[in-house]
Amino acid sequence: MSDSSAQESNNDSRQESNCPFAAFIPPYPRPHKTKSSFLLRFFRGWHSWLHVLFEKSYSMQMGEIRQPGGTVFMVNEPKWVRHVLVEEAASFPKHELMHELLEPLLGVSIFTTNGELWERQRRLVDQAFSLAKVQGVFPKMQSAVSSMLHRLDKMADGRDQEIDGEMTYVTADVMFRAILSEPLTADDARCIYESFLDFQKHAQRASLLMMYRLWAWPMRLACKKSAGKIRRVLSRIIARRYELVAKEGAAAPEDILSGLMQAVDPVLKNKFEYLETVDQVCMLFLAGHETSASTLAWSLYLLSRCPEVQERMVAEIREHAPDGELTFSAIRKLRLVSNVFRESLRLYPPVGFFVRTSTQDTVMRDKKIPKGSPILISPWLIHRHRTLWDRSDEFDPDRFDTPEGKESSKCAYIPFSAGPRVCVGKAFAIQEALLILASIVQRYRIEASAQHIPRPVGRVTVRSDNGIRVRLKRREL
Ligand code: HEM
Repeated sequence: MSDSSAQESNNDSRQESNCPFAAFIPPYPRPHKTKSSFLLRFFRGWHSWLHVLFEKSYSMQMGEIRQPGGTVFMVNEPKWVRHVLVEEAASFPKHELMHELLEPLLGVSIFTTNGELWERQRRLVDQAFSLAKVQGVFPKMQSAVSSMLHRLDKMADGRDQEIDGEMTYVTADVMFRAILSEPLTADDARCIYESFLDFQKHAQRASLLMMYRLWAWPMRLACKKSAGKIRRVLSRIIARRYELVAKEGAAAPEDILSGLMQAVDPVLKNKFEYLETVDQVCMLFLAGHETSASTLAWSLYLLSRCPEVQERMVAEIREHAPDGELTFSAIRKLRLVSNVFRESLRLYPPVGFFVRTSTQDTVMRDKKIPKGSPILISPWLIHRHRTLWDRSDEFDPDRFDTPEGKESSKCAYIPFSAGPRVCVGKAFAIQEALLILASIVQRYRIEASAQHIPRPVGRVTVRSDNGIRVRLKRREL
C-alpha cells in the first residue's frame, strides 16, 4: 500500500483553514492502526522510516521492534530518554550503523565517533567554535541573508515557488562563510543540494538493508558517489587554505577553519592533522546546513498557512527593530519568531531519531535489554507523543508561553539532543534561523500554494518528498 494516500487523507477540512480561526494540523503520514510484520516494515521503510510508524508508537512509553538482525528498543519515556542521553551517556554510545552509513560523507568526525577519539575531537571542535564566537559570525550570516533576499526578490511574483532549494542555498552559504570565509557559488549550491538528496535516498535504503543484514553494497556505493561530490567541493577550498597558511607571513581569515587548524588539545597537546580537518569541516558543513535548511523550509510552509502569525511577527519585528535593521541584539528579543522556529522543530525535527548501543545487559521499565542492542530515541515521536504534549499534532507557536507547554518542553523537547552529545551548533543554528525567518517575514507575505500539500518523509533528515512550495509577495515598506 502506498502511504501517500494515507497522508493525503490526513489533510482534512480543519487543515484547509488558516489559523487562528481553526486548529491547523500540518500533514504527516497517518500512522498504521497496528504494528506491521517485518516484511511490510521493510517495504514501507524503503521509502521513509516515518511510514513504518503505527498508532501506538505515539503513545507508548517503550517499545520493541523485532528485526532479523536483533531487537531494537525504542525509548519514549522522558525519564529513560534522560538516562540514555544524559545520566548514563557513556554506557550508550552512538551505534556503529550510524558511522558506517555516514562515513562516506562525514568521515571520522565527532558526529559518529565514540570514546576517547570523540572526546579529543569534541575538545578541539568546541575550541574552534569558541574561537570563532557566535557573535563574531553574525555579520557573515547577514551577508548570506542579504544575497538570499536578492534571489528571493526575483521569486516574489505571487506564483508557486519551490522554497527548499533556496533554504539549502542560504544555510549552505552561511556555513561556507562561517567556516571557510567564502560565499557559495550557485553551481556548488546546486551540486550540494542534488548530491545530498541522492545521498539521503540511498542512505535510507542502505540503513534498512543493513538493519535486516542484507546485501547493501550497491546502495552504499551510491552513497559514496554522492558524498564524494560534496566532499570534493569542500576539500578544494581547505587545501587552498593549507597552502595559504604554509606561505610565510600570509594572514588567514578568522573563521571556523582557522579555529580548527589552530586548536590545541589541552590533554594530548596535539592538533588536527590535514585529513582530520577535512572530515570535521565536512561534518560541520553538513550537520550545520541540512538541519537548518529542513527546519526553515518547514517553518515557511507552516507560516504560509497562518497569515495571522506572520502579521504578529511583523509587529514584533517593528517593535524591536523600528528602523528595519535586524541587529544581533534585536534578533535576541524576537520571542514569537523564536517560538515559530521552536514549534517547527517540534513538529518536524530534522534529526528524527538517534541510535545508541547498550554496552551492557540492562533493564529499562520491565524490559530486559541485552548488551549490544540498538536503542532508538526519536524526537519525532517524543515531540508528537499523545501523553507528553497537548494537541500534539497542531501547529501552535504560542504553546511555549503556556504553563503546560513550558512543562512539556522541559521533559519532552530534544531537537538538538541532550547530554554530552548535544548539538555543538545549537546557539549558531538558533541565531541563524531567527535572522533568516525574521528577514523573510519582514520583507514578504508568504502565501500557501493552492494545490500543494507537502509529503513528509523520514530519511537522514525529515524532508518533504514533493518539495515545499509557497508564494511570496513583497510587502509595502
Ligand atoms: C536546526 C538546526 C540543527 C539541529 C536541529 C541539530 C540537531 C542536532 C542533533 C539532534 C544532534 C545529535 C545527534 C545524535 O545524537 O545522534 C546534533 C549533533 C551535532 N550538531 Fe547539530 N543541529 C543543528 C544545527 C547544527 C549546526 C548549525 C552545527 C554546526 C555549525 C551543528 C553541528 C553539530 C555537531 C558537530 C554535532 C555532533 C555533536 C557530537 O556528537 O559531539 N548542528 N545536532
